[in-house]
Amino acid sequence: MRVLKATILTAACLAALAARAEGPGLGQPLSPEEIPFYATHILPDGTGLPEGGGTAVEGAELFATLCAACHGETGIEGPIEPVVGPNETFARPAGRYWPYATTLFDYTRRSMPFHQPKSLEDDEVYAVTAYILHRNGLIGENERMDSESLPAVVMPNRENVISLWDLQGDEPY
Ligand code: HEC
Repeated sequence: MRVLKATILTAACLAALAARAEGPGLGQPLSPEEIPFYATHILPDGTGLPEGGGTAVEGAELFATLCAACHGETGIEGPIEPVVGPNETFARPAGRYWPYATTLFDYTRRSMPFHQPKSLEDDEVYAVTAYILHRNGLIGENERMDSESLPAVVMPNRENVISLWDLQGDEPY
């Protein structure tokens, strides 16, 4: 009886170990061709920005079609996090509060429109980014945003933001 119990216990342990080695069965490995689609990183200085470009004039129609339902007809109204402002309901609109215009591009390209992330062409992302910056009074409506001009936009809140990298260098927290 004791031998039988030990055998059952061993078998149960082995089964549990095997299941653990296989993992919970969630997700699947990406193929090398798929990785660039997901691994997009743009640094504050513009490193990683793609080719292409766009103006606020081009972005206005895209914004009306793809973004206005959530962020407001002109970017101010909301109901969700207005990207233009500030106003009494939202003090920190991304298009003015964020320290780098390049982050606006990166965020939009990887996550907007909310229900269809990564559906925009790079030119379209440049154009809606230009529209948001223009609506915030930071660039002209015909100023073309591309990998050269976008990092050169000086966001008004930049000096109020502390860079942990600058403070700590390669030191960990
Ligand atoms: C279906 C609704 C919806 C649509 C359409 C949409 N967004 Fe958003 N957007 C959101 C939500 C929700 C958030 C907040 C997400 C979060 O905080 O995790 C957000 C956040 C943002 C932010 C950051 C705002 C902040 O203050 O943090 C930006 C910039 C932005 N969206 C740009 C766009 C652009 C550009 C488009 C059109 C191409 C767009 N969004 C379309 C729902 C939407």
